Amino acid sequence: MLLDRSFRRTLIARLLLSAGPSTAAALLIAAPGCGEPEAEEATEAADIRCFEWFEELGACLDREQALEEFRSIYSPCESREEIRSVKSDATPRDGACCYEVVAEETGPCAVGRPFMLEGHRRTAAPRPAEAGWLARGKRTGPGGMEPSLAHLTDEERETLAEGWLRSALEEHASVASFARFALDLMAHGAPSSLVEAAHIAALDEVGHARLGFSLASAYRGAPVGPAAFPMPPAIPVAADLVALARAAAEEGCVGETVAALVAAEQRARAEDPAVRAALEAIADDEARHAELAWLTVAWAIGAGGEPVRRAVAGVFEAAAESLRRPPPAEAEAEAPRGRPAALAAHGHLAGADLRALSCAAVAQVVLPCARSLGLWKPRAAAAAVAPAVSA
Ligand SMILES: [Fe+2]
Ligand SMILES: [Fe+2]
Repeated sequence: MLLDRSFRRTLIARLLLSAGPSTAAALLIAAPGCGEPEAEEATEAADIRCFEWFEELGACLDREQALEEFRSIYSPCESREEIRSVKSDATPRDGACCYEVVAEETGPCAVGRPFMLEGHRRTAAPRPAEAGWLARGKRTGPGGMEPSLAHLTDEERETLAEGWLRSALEEHASVASFARFALDLMAHGAPSSLVEAAHIAALDEVGHARLGFSLASAYRGAPVGPAAFPMPPAIPVAADLVALARAAAEEGCVGETVAALVAAEQRARAEDPAVRAALEAIADDEARHAELAWLTVAWAIGAGGEPVRRAVAGVFEAAAESLRRPPPAEAEAEAPRGRPAALAAHGHLAGADLRALSCAAVAQVVLPCARSLGLWKPRAAAAAVAPAVSA
């Protein structure tokens, strides 16, 4: 799946500018394929998979290297399958190397900035009749905050209510996440610009949560909001710059970048004016939040040096690894309940679409940007280039 090229390119430029203003333009030009898919399936045949290959790189890779290449640049998360093994030698084919492989189905990736505690995401429970988190007329489109319910079946309204409620609870958790992030920044001597941006981002997330709860309430036909957030008695701040940068990379450089791209795609497919207005605001804010994360990581590396850089690089390697792993059980594709087109018109994406989008965002934006900044390198790329250099 290819994300919208214009939004993708703009976001990449913004992220690279955040991380390295003096060299961003050069990086964007110099990085071949930054923001482009690294490889595509060249065939629909059940057990044959290919990746793009240039003559300048020499002969096709052997089986072992090809498996590494598939795992580095081919996104099974996006394509809903993982390459487990390579069973044949390469067959060159029109600028690609093709292999017989063993592939297994996989599932979705995560979206958004979570509130993590002891390695687990936390969100509040929904609370029926809670009206304290409904939007107050801001950022409404031509249709106001009331989406049109005409032409929707009862089942579709229910699906939309559940989807927007789930999204709203995650946005609500992002408020807490940014509040803690602001404390982390204060605790480690960050400049005022970052602390200010963190607080502004928390307010943005309040707005996103309000929009989500308002839409969920409209589709549900009754108010719904969050119960008290399940906050522990003490919230630990990041122990050091390494921990701060690692969290910013995980939750922001990955989570918020994915969130921005997913929201942009939801907006592009939505037709209801109120939904489009909500997603317009959310996509724009999430892009700024992603910028803040990349800026924070750049500052932390500058302040903390090599240990911080290594920790951040580890996050991007883990993101690449997540594209190869089978998904958590929660990510299992939801059964479509309603007409896909009707649901998409109201901002709802099926589990498989969401999975494909979030994985494409990692593969086409997060990892290319990390690579351009020297924070991630496809493992097989080095293996492929090395023989040519020594020859
Ligand atoms: Fe958000
Ligand atoms: Fe955000």
